[in-house]
Amino acid sequence: MKGGTVSFLFVLLISPSPPFSASVMGNFVNAGMLPNGDFELGPKPSDMKGTQVINKNAIPSWELTGFVEYIKSGQKQGDMLLVVPAGKFAVRLGNEASIKQRLNVTKGMYYSLTFSAARTCAQDERLNISVAPDSGVIPIQTVYSSSGWDLYAWAFQAESNVAEIVIHNPGEEEDPACGPLIDGVAIKALYPPRPTNKNILKNGGFEEGPYLLPNSTTGVLIPPFIEDDHSPLPAWMIESLKAVKYVDVEHFSVPQGRRAVELVAGKERKRDRSGG
Ligand SMILES: *[C@@H]1O[C@H](CO)[C@@H](O)[C@H](O)[C@H]1NC(C)=O
Ligand SMILES: *[C@@H]1O[C@H](CO)[C@@H](O)[C@H](O)[C@H]1NC(C)=O
Ligand SMILES: *[C@@H]1O[C@H](CO)[C@@H](O)[C@H](O)[C@H]1NC(C)=O
Repeated sequence: MKGGTVSFLFVLLISPSPPFSASVMGNFVNAGMLPNGDFELGPKPSDMKGTQVINKNAIPSWELTGFVEYIKSGQKQGDMLLVVPAGKFAVRLGNEASIKQRLNVTKGMYYSLTFSAARTCAQDERLNISVAPDSGVIPIQTVYSSSGWDLYAWAFQAESNVAEIVIHNPGEEEDPACGPLIDGVAIKALYPPRPTNKNILKNGGFEEGPYLLPNSTTGVLIPPFIEDDHSPLPAWMIESLKAVKYVDVEHFSVPQGRRAVELVAGKERKRDRSGG
């Protein structure tokens, strides 16, 4: 068994009333990688200039904006060897670059997105993930895993039957090659849990939560979203300043059931927002 102490701290219970009934959920079973969510299908050589993708539709299932690079595992950046978590390929988002995918969903339903991200340069890298009208900015400055790649979760409620998922790098760094790497974008429909006669806390065992990539041993970080309406961990809201980690029994010590929440400590690079 790997992993640290399982803890239930720093999470505040909220109790939203379920906004829809079971009947409108439909039979939309959706948990897994998005189409080409691992970017294994790549651009044709004629759509590339070095590592840069120069045709916005060159990566199947995705639409690109701005300076997007197609990264192969083992590729070097300076003296750093880039490794990729899902398959052999990933993308890197330069300044103001984004990747977008349209997906059929069920209107009114809650979904959680899970994706891998890695920071490449020393800057304060962030990602803005959105499905209109919801959006959330995830700081990826703190690195929790030894590989440099962390999994993040973010949730939204589908406003229509099509979700336009956008992952955007709002950065404005001098070096356009400094930007987050993205890989393994997955989705899971969330079913707001109800209290049971065994546990009056909703989702008290954290069994309902974001998608965990089957091969990932690191768990999924759930960042605190101050203005977030929708939690990837139904019925719970992250109140700490730091992310909490959602873990599975396959890779961590979980006292009850299959899922738990762990308080984590990450490696912080020095950062002074006041600029001093
Ligand atoms: C998404 O929904 C539209 C309209 O219902 C349908 O035409 C299309 O085939 C669907 N796409 C996928 C990938 O299921
Ligand atoms: C994130 O992206 C959404 C959608 O483009 C936008 O509405 C929102 O203002 C962005 N947030 C930040 C902090 O840039
Ligand atoms: C998970 O690992 C197994 C064995 O290494 C591999 O065959 C499989 O393709 C991996 N799955 C994903 C989604 O990466």
